[in-house]
Amino acid sequence: MLSRGESFITLQGTPPESLLDMVAELAGRPAPDAEPPRPDGRAVATAFYEPSTRTRLGFHIAARALGLDVMPLDVAASSVSKGESLTDTVRVLADYGIAALVLRHPDPESMAVATAAGSCPVINAGNGAGEHPVQTLIDLAMIHRRFGRLTGLNITMTGDILHSRTIHGLIMALSLYDNRVTLVSDPALRLPADLGGLAVRRYAPRLEETDSLTRSILKTTDILYMTRVQTERGSENRPIILTEQVQQALNQDAIVLHPMPRTVELPEWFDSDPRAAYLRRNHVGLTVMTFVLETVLGGKNEND
Ligand code: NCD
Repeated sequence: MLSRGESFITLQGTPPESLLDMVAELAGRPAPDAEPPRPDGRAVATAFYEPSTRTRLGFHIAARALGLDVMPLDVAASSVSKGESLTDTVRVLADYGIAALVLRHPDPESMAVATAAGSCPVINAGNGAGEHPVQTLIDLAMIHRRFGRLTGLNITMTGDILHSRTIHGLIMALSLYDNRVTLVSDPALRLPADLGGLAVRRYAPRLEETDSLTRSILKTTDILYMTRVQTERGSENRPIILTEQVQQALNQDAIVLHPMPRTVELPEWFDSDPRAAYLRRNHVGLTVMTFVLETVLGGKNEND
């Protein structure tokens, strides 16, 4: 749940009405003001134990837009390379007085370790194949921007269903409302039965799994959500590629989303198609990351 002064680890437990209000507000927000509205001299630390371009730099920009300094931990140059534990690293940052820690880590348990270790709020920027709630808010805001709702939609998700944390988070969020989710992947990359607490299987009646992106699926799809095959997590299976046939068969009113980075599955020639909504992701991302930081740094609400 995203609440003032608290760590932001998961969207699980968010009441559907509050999530909808938040996403509707985000979808209508202009891009963040470049002028610092609230300089208070405090620093946000970022610690990325996995590569990142958009999320890492986006949080740096968002922090500066809020008048905060950024303390990026260079993991390769830090004591992590000497075998230091995540707990000890987070303690250093917390003792140095950081206002919040933006953390990405390959271990799904890392967020629990980090929140237990330090006194500062932690923002989950991706925990292994677990979740990426910041990207989930970005995806929901983009869906709301286009459709004006988060319900009654046909969402087709493709690629590495097994490892994609953005897919796991989005399925969970969309399952709070009345939606139909179709998962298309190589049989070896299907949704894991145990998603470490995500328990998306309980929404199974509205979840279908198949291994090919057929014309009939494409014709009724509102949102085509594509992901790459995550070779760094051991996947070496067939990607689901947006071919010219897919382009032709896809519902004219659909949008195509992708959390990025893309590889072979989403060719650049599709960028000129009006359904290529993923091109707006970076701008919406800055709005969302600024909002998340603002909320997390907002301090405890007296009424909470
Ligand atoms: C994704 C991630 O890291 O989970 N990227 C992102 O932050 N938007 C997707 C990916 O790595 O494929």
